[in-house]
Amino acid sequence: MMTSGTTLLQNDDALQAWTMKLREQFPILNEHVHSKRLVYLDNAATTQKPESVLSAMEGYYRHLNSNIHRGVHFLSEQATEAYEGVREKLRSYINAAATGEIVFVRGTTEAINLVADSFGRAFVKAGDEVLISGMEHHSNIVPWQLLCERTGASLKVAPIDDRGEIIVEEFERLLNKRTRIVGLAHVSNALGTVNPVKHLIDLAHRHDIPVLVDGAQAGPHLRIDVRDLDCDFYALSAHKMYGPTGIGVLYGKQRLLESMPPYQGGGDMIRSVTFEKTVFNDLPYKFEAGTPSIAEGIGFGAALDFLTSLDWRAVSVHEHSLLEKASDALCNIPGVRIIGTAREKAGVVSFVLNDVHPHDIGTILDQEGIAVRTGHHCAQPVMLRYGIPATVRASFAVYNTKEEIEALIRGIYRVKEVFH
Ligand code: ALA
Repeated sequence: MMTSGTTLLQNDDALQAWTMKLREQFPILNEHVHSKRLVYLDNAATTQKPESVLSAMEGYYRHLNSNIHRGVHFLSEQATEAYEGVREKLRSYINAAATGEIVFVRGTTEAINLVADSFGRAFVKAGDEVLISGMEHHSNIVPWQLLCERTGASLKVAPIDDRGEIIVEEFERLLNKRTRIVGLAHVSNALGTVNPVKHLIDLAHRHDIPVLVDGAQAGPHLRIDVRDLDCDFYALSAHKMYGPTGIGVLYGKQRLLESMPPYQGGGDMIRSVTFEKTVFNDLPYKFEAGTPSIAEGIGFGAALDFLTSLDWRAVSVHEHSLLEKASDALCNIPGVRIIGTAREKAGVVSFVLNDVHPHDIGTILDQEGIAVRTGHHCAQPVMLRYGIPATVRASFAVYNTKEEIEALIRGIYRVKEVFH
């Protein structure tokens, strides 16, 4: 892992050794499926977990299990310290200004629902507009639709072009004095497009419009700096970043979070309660009602340590070489059409093969031990845009290898044999 990105770029053997060393940390990669070695290419759905994440969670349950923020006893204090330590780790990892800006949530979906609900109640009314893009995941569409239904606001959509890139001029044209908030994916889960979010945020800010970035698919592939992006909200899921399910983060600028009402009521989010009046807690606890996912939070901390240990130049070189190899090989298979050919992409390749249904392709690949996702990827409007019901999606992580891409390509030839 100490090999620099530049060395990897020049040396295939070094790349291979670097990946093999990383793979040793992920026990599940030794599994066999249908008597074949597992080839896990469904990382955009969820990544696998390194040993350090598994043992951090087990260690909590074995040695620290207790509720946090509540007890004066030893275990509770230790667990609170461990959990709050992760909040600080996250703050530093995404370069937020303060831990009050780091709200723990169940994942990206809950983060977006929180903002749509709470920001929406404070700032969105009939006649207002919410702007998203044409490549959003359902979790960055439906919460805004619910908000629009509640308030009488309308949802506007910046279209994408044939490559799967947001048409920036159209996006800019849709920003106006009625726009209350913008929601944008950093990386598209269905197409792999990396959006120029910094530029789009700047365009929205020229109209004083806050921007929420759905970072679910960016977390595993890019280093995120919320202050550099100057986003107003940023949402992440731990399970797509080598951490556990059930925990994620909503970053929000302090000024905005302070101006928003609580999302849910319950324990921990209050300072005092009487039947007449409740005084809410400070940030971030105002938005964290009830006992949180403590073991998962601690596992998230271990995942952040894993991510921090990576040479990110090497990650980028490696993941791009996998993407390039897969895209080139797929393009050379007669009948394959890649969906999403943006100039800047993260480790996702979506494709269709003639009129073979993606589910059939996925089933045949599964028989070869290869895990891919097939379907609409919770992005039905994207499928509609391309006039297809579904795609096959292979998505890559740091531990994938060129041999696994070759296995995928062999698998597609096998599908062709079956369907001729
Ligand atoms: N949003 C996840 C995916 O794209 C589940 O597969």
